[in-house]
Amino acid sequence: MRNFDEKDITDAVISRLANSPSPRAKHISASLIRHLHDFVREIEPSQSEWEQAIDFLTRTGQMCSSTRQEFILLSDALGVSTLVDAINHRLPSTATETTVMGPFYVEHAPEVPSGSRIAGPAEGPALLIEGSVRSVDGQPLGSATVDIWHADEAGFYDVQKDDVNLSGRARVRTDAHGMFWVIGAVPAAYPIPNDGPVGRMLEAQGRHPFRPAHVHFMVSAPGHETLVTHLFLADSDHLDSDVVFGVKDSLIEVLGTAAPGTTSYGATVETSTPVLRRDFVLGKALSGAAARRPHPQALY
Ligand code: BEZ
Ligand code: FE
Repeated sequence: MRNFDEKDITDAVISRLANSPSPRAKHISASLIRHLHDFVREIEPSQSEWEQAIDFLTRTGQMCSSTRQEFILLSDALGVSTLVDAINHRLPSTATETTVMGPFYVEHAPEVPSGSRIAGPAEGPALLIEGSVRSVDGQPLGSATVDIWHADEAGFYDVQKDDVNLSGRARVRTDAHGMFWVIGAVPAAYPIPNDGPVGRMLEAQGRHPFRPAHVHFMVSAPGHETLVTHLFLADSDHLDSDVVFGVKDSLIEVLGTAAPGTTSYGATVETSTPVLRRDFVLGKALSGAAARRPHPQALY
């Protein structure tokens, strides 16, 4: 086959997939080729625009390091991460909604007992973060793992700062009644890292780089789907224009005030303290045909 033109090039490329040993790789490749060719036919790039596209992708790769993942940021800013999250978390409507993970999660954060201070005055005004974990059937989940991480009052995560001290993050376990609480700091809205190609793309698209103030949670318990989510502060800016499209109404919380003493969740504070409170509900682990698609073998 030779002499391909604007119309028949797509089928020609797809026909070369005939001997693919992997049905999934074949399906994904054919769809990618079809959509990519349609996209190119629609926008009709000049040769210079094609070169700029290659340069953009090259710079995106070059920006990546062990602490910076510019491709995930690109996926976030184009709404792809939120789309993938939605496709993979079709949970019962009574379960707490998920949202994007973001790049600032740290595996193996130190486990601390409930009641610990996970951020100091340098990170901002104290914030009591308290809640519970239960199953969709209402059963409290004791010994559930709750990872918490948040930015400080200046909008920076610990891992973005020069020193290596972890702050504004910890892992706690729920007690026998499914309760947990820690003292963090009130986080600020912040821009996603925008000193690279994704930042240039946002400028070209006339978009701001901000996320509304939020606290991240990852909640897991045996027999249940792990929940990756945030709680957004109701008085934050940018709730309707989150640069990564992560906001859901059900995840917005108005901060309360905990009076000195012990709260109904078992938390003790000495002074009047803002409180972010949530009862998380985990969906049961899916099994059989309903289970999430297994991770396929490496595609390429
Ligand atoms: C975050 O919330 O930590 C985040 C999410 C997506 C991109 C950048 C940051
Ligand atoms: Fe965040």
